[in-house]
Amino acid sequence: MTDSRGSDQPFLTLGIETSCDETSAAVVRGEAEVLSNVVYSQVDLHARYGGVVPEVASRNHVVKLPYVIDEALAKAGARPADVSLFAATSGPGLIGPLLVGLCHAKGMAYASRTPFVGVNHLEGHLFAHRIASPDLPPPFVGLIVSGGHTLLVDVARYGEYHVIGTTVDDAAGEAIDKIGKMIGIGYPAGAKIDELANHGDPAAIALPRPMEGSPSFDFSFSGLKTAVLYHVRKNPRERREDIAASVLASVVSVLTRKSLEAARRFHRGRLVVVGGVAANAHLRAALTAEGQARGVDVRFPPIALCTDNAAMIAAAGGFRHRELGESHPLSLSPDPSLGL
Ligand code: KG4
Ligand code: ZN
Repeated sequence: MTDSRGSDQPFLTLGIETSCDETSAAVVRGEAEVLSNVVYSQVDLHARYGGVVPEVASRNHVVKLPYVIDEALAKAGARPADVSLFAATSGPGLIGPLLVGLCHAKGMAYASRTPFVGVNHLEGHLFAHRIASPDLPPPFVGLIVSGGHTLLVDVARYGEYHVIGTTVDDAAGEAIDKIGKMIGIGYPAGAKIDELANHGDPAAIALPRPMEGSPSFDFSFSGLKTAVLYHVRKNPRERREDIAASVLASVVSVLTRKSLEAARRFHRGRLVVVGGVAANAHLRAALTAEGQARGVDVRFPPIALCTDNAAMIAAAGGFRHRELGESHPLSLSPDPSLGL
């Protein structure tokens, strides 16, 4: 496990993630050994606006990122000169926040004459699985489900992705967050809805399960959001616990059915679920149980690796550089709508 200069120093990747409202830096040794993974969340800053304000996020990344990187290096017992590769998210995400992390990584790479790679955030999410389960490589079907994305992807091997379905409107996490705002539980709503649902009746409200029965692997969550809006207007006294449980019953049912069907259709015995919504306890329980019933091995990384973090970016960047021989020129620009 040596670096690209052929010395017997361990290969260290410094990863940087700033695509949305988490400022994160991590040091990963070799393929996927996480030495440090520091995440500074800006949620408190954005909560008062009910969503992420891109300009506020960019400015806060500029202020916090140098400290977050210093802390990640210190926790890993490494100096900037020990780093073999700098990897930063180059898209998809918010343009200003992306620019901050990418420029910082390029600057450090230039100063230490070390290679640099821009990383696709979606590929990064998949590498949370490599960190958690290095012994369970592809093939598998991946479900990337977060605040910005809902994607089903057939992974023949790392680096080879075939997108088999995506959302035609809102991402699952986005719909959950918007519903949270409607019922006054603040932003982001995912973890709170998860908890409220434990005390609610999932059958209390008959909500749509959009596209659940359709033969396509695409998703749609915006109609669910509208259905909740109308229901709440008509029934202002509805218990928030029952709303949360009914919303999750719909989201979990659609995600479970479609992703297990995708695993069957693509003849994969394993389903890997990543992204912020993969932290949801109800989704984890339903998919694990239903997967067992259907002979599909369902894997979720630990929660800290499901939500945005730089360790997954470092692991994906390290893979691109070491196993695919990639490095990018310092002219690489961020791409807010980069696809997988
Ligand atoms: O992956 P992530 O940190 O950022 C994006 O790439 O979007 O995902 C954030 C999303 C938010 O929508 C948040 O509400 C949701 O993940 N989330 C959850 C839970 N924890 C976070 N959704 C449902 N249940 C949770 N426990
Ligand atoms: Zn993400």
